Amino acid sequence: MKKKLVVAVTGASGSIYADLLFKKLAQLSDQLQEVAVVMSDNAKQVWRFELDNDNYQKLPYKFYAKTDFMAPFASGSAKFDTMIVIPCSMGTLGRIAAGTSDDLIARAADVILKERRKLILVARDTPLNLIHIKNMYTVTEAGGIICPAMPSFYSKPQTVEEVAATVVDRVVDLAGLQNQSYRWGE
Ligand SMILES: Cc1cc2nc3c(=O)[nH]c(=O)nc-3n(C[C@H](O)[C@H](O)[C@H](O)COP(=O)(O)O)c2cc1C
Repeated sequence: MKKKLVVAVTGASGSIYADLLFKKLAQLSDQLQEVAVVMSDNAKQVWRFELDNDNYQKLPYKFYAKTDFMAPFASGSAKFDTMIVIPCSMGTLGRIAAGTSDDLIARAADVILKERRKLILVARDTPLNLIHIKNMYTVTEAGGIICPAMPSFYSKPQTVEEVAATVVDRVVDLAGLQNQSYRWGE
């Protein structure tokens, strides 16, 4: 079964994670029926600042405005099976945990949770306050997956991209996509 995926990019540090995920999805396109993208304004600003480009504009996916509640994945009936928020700011985490549905990202996450489908939040901030931790607890209790943007080093990554890819490879695994990546013990 090919996947219908929503990718939301928010204004936490770590635009590189979204950039690498999009590159990985291009390699795995035979497993994907559809990829829909929504970016917050802050995400665009942080991407420009951290990556010195606007390359997200060149992606071959349909982009939806954050205010567009007419987007297909604002309804469960469109049957998007997985949503990845990468990186996920504490603000967006809080809106999802509170069920505000006040923008397309919060609404799409709300829909994924109510339909008991897969929500993956690549949360990023440090240190965490109790509000962040409680919000992560709430989302986890509701069935979402908190996959913090915490790289691993046991594969001995040599570049910033390789370090960031250790996070993205875990996200791709969680999304249920078949991917060739470093596997401990293999
Ligand atoms: C360069 C930069 C880095 C940021 N890094 C983080 C971060 O790591 N985590 C976070 O929660 N917010 C971070 N922020 C703040 C968010 O962008 C801000 O809270 C924003 O309201 C999030 O909105 P959004 O979730 O709609 O994108 C950063 C802002 C800037 C300008």
